[in-house]
This record gives sequence, structure tokens and C-alpha cells, in this order.
Amino acid sequence: MKILITGANGMLAKAVINEFKDCELICTDVNELDITNLEDVEAFVSKTKPKYIINCAAYTAVDKAEDEEELARKVNSIGPKNLSIVASKQDATLVHVSTDYVFGGAKSINEAYVEDDEKNPTTVYGVTKLEGEKEIEKNCDKYYIFRTAWLFGDGKNFVRTMLNLGKEKEEVNVVSDQHGSPTYTVDLAKVMHDAIEKQIPYGIYHATNEGFTTWYEFTRKIFEMENIKCKVNSVTSEEFQSKAKRPKNSKLSKEKLLNEGIHIPTYEDALKRYLQNR
Ligand SMILES: NC(=O)c1ccc[n+]([C@@H]2O[C@H](COP(=O)([O-])OP(=O)(O)OC[C@H]3O[C@@H](n4cnc5c(N)ncnc54)[C@H](OP(=O)(O)O)[C@@H]3O)[C@@H](O)[C@H]2O)c1
Repeated sequence: MKILITGANGMLAKAVINEFKDCELICTDVNELDITNLEDVEAFVSKTKPKYIINCAAYTAVDKAEDEEELARKVNSIGPKNLSIVASKQDATLVHVSTDYVFGGAKSINEAYVEDDEKNPTTVYGVTKLEGEKEIEKNCDKYYIFRTAWLFGDGKNFVRTMLNLGKEKEEVNVVSDQHGSPTYTVDLAKVMHDAIEKQIPYGIYHATNEGFTTWYEFTRKIFEMENIKCKVNSVTSEEFQSKAKRPKNSKLSKEKLLNEGIHIPTYEDALKRYLQNR
């Protein structure tokens, strides 16, 4: 099975490349294939003829995106548009990754978002990722969009940042009013593999590790597992003051995926494996 992977130097891409190592992979970074250039995407895909295109390319700097809307839109909306047009022409299946930030986060904290819930992104990043989803739905029939959240893996991520801070500082301030599911790239890549293997129906699926927490509780868990003594102070989103206004409720229901027989481990189990493998 021939698979094209875009954005191949990214954090998720590394796990995807490893998960699909038994397949014939064509891995491209932005210099080899810029997804924002339709002509290049068309030429590349028609020459290499992959059965699947796994799009790991994205503009992911959530705060910076508030000042770089045009660039974020180009990569997160035009990029998926180009890939979906070309995938459709070449009869390839597009596997794409989206985000919990397509939702506004105003839903009651006792409930998780289901795939069709109303979208109301509060950040430029979320707006452009939602546009990307819509482009794919418009331009091709054979697609999987996996909405994920709070990724950690082989790259710059929250867990790594906290481990570094925990070793350097005596105390850290961490937001305690944003609720979601930290997700290990390795487990998300496995979901993609399972979905393709089982040929589940095309469409949008929520795919995060099981269990819900807050950044504050998650930090405490990281420090507990690594025996780090740094004190964790709970602060509100307003006190933390980031440029982008992140959703308070980022909980994604996995029921649709579970109904297809695809299970994903808890975030605690994922964190344990990540810390062991690091
Ligand atoms: N990280 C999270 O917490 C999180 C949460 C929810 C959803 N997601 C989604 O998960 C996916 C993977 O995220 P990630 O954390 O692995 O992202 P990442 O580490 O930032 O990787 C994205 C990759 O895309 C490349 N890229 C940027 N513009 C490109 C272009 N025009 N053409 C081709 N490649 C381009 C980047 O290259 P350069 O580095 O050279 O720019 C980078 O290697 C994304 O769709 C993201 O929106 C991530």
C-alpha cells in the first residue's frame, strides 16, 4: 500500500511514519511538497500515485496565528483544499487531522462534544482548521478527518515543557479551567492505522486518548510520575493571559470511533509509555 505523508518533520508525522513502516511510504517535508501550491500537489500526486494521503502538515502555532491569519489560512485551509481536490482526481483517500479548537468550548463541562455539535471557534487557528475540514468535505468523498487535542510525542510539546520547567523551577502556574484529553501521537497514529485496516465509513471522527483532565491536573500527574517536587499553582485562563482565547471545554466524545470497534488507551497509560520511551 503506497502512502504519501505530508509535513513529515512534524511531531505527529514521526509517529505516523513509524506506525505505517510496513507500507510503501513517500515522506515529504515542506521543501519537497508545499501543500499550499495546487500545481505542485497535483504534479506530485499524479506522478507518485499514492492510495492514501496522510496530511500531517499544518500551521500549529495557536497564539502566533492571531497575528498571522493569512499564513495560517494558507496552510490549514488552502492546503487541505488542494489535497482534497487532487485526492479526488487521483482516487486516493485523504486522511487529515483537525482539532478540538473548532468548538467554542461553551458547552457544559459535564458533557463532551460530539462530531456534529455546533462549531464556534474562538481562535484564528480554530477558524482556519474548521475551514480546512469544510474544504475536504466539499471536494472529496473518500476522507477521514480525525479531530484530536493536546498532542504530545516526539517534538516540542506540553509534557516536555513541563518536565523542563519542573526541573528548573520551584513552582509553576498552570491553567485549571480548560478541560480536555492529552493525546499521545503514537496512539493517534494507531487509530489511523486501525481505521484504514478496518475500512470504517469515511467521515469525521473524534480521536483523543480516553479520560478528561485539566492542564493543571495533567501537570500534577506528570510530576508525580517523574517524582518531580516542583509546586503546581492553579490559575485561571484569564490570569494566564495567552494571546489566543482557548476553549474551556475541549472534551471530545469518542463514541463514534468506539462504535467502529476502535479503542484508544487512557491518557494516563499513554503518558506512562511516553515517559518510558523518551
Ligand atoms: N499539537 C497539538 O497539540 C495538536 C492538537 C490538536 C490538533 N493538532 C493537529 O494535528 C496535526 C499535527 O500536528 P503536529 O503537532 O504534529 O504539528 P507540527 O509538529 O507543527 O508539524 C506540522 C508540520 O507541517 C509542516 N508544514 C507547515 N507548512 C507546510 C506546508 N505549506 N506544506 C507542507 N508542510 C508544511 C511543518 O513544517 P515546518 O516546521 O518546517 O514549518 C511541520 O513539520 C495538525 O493538523 C494539527 O493541527 C495538533
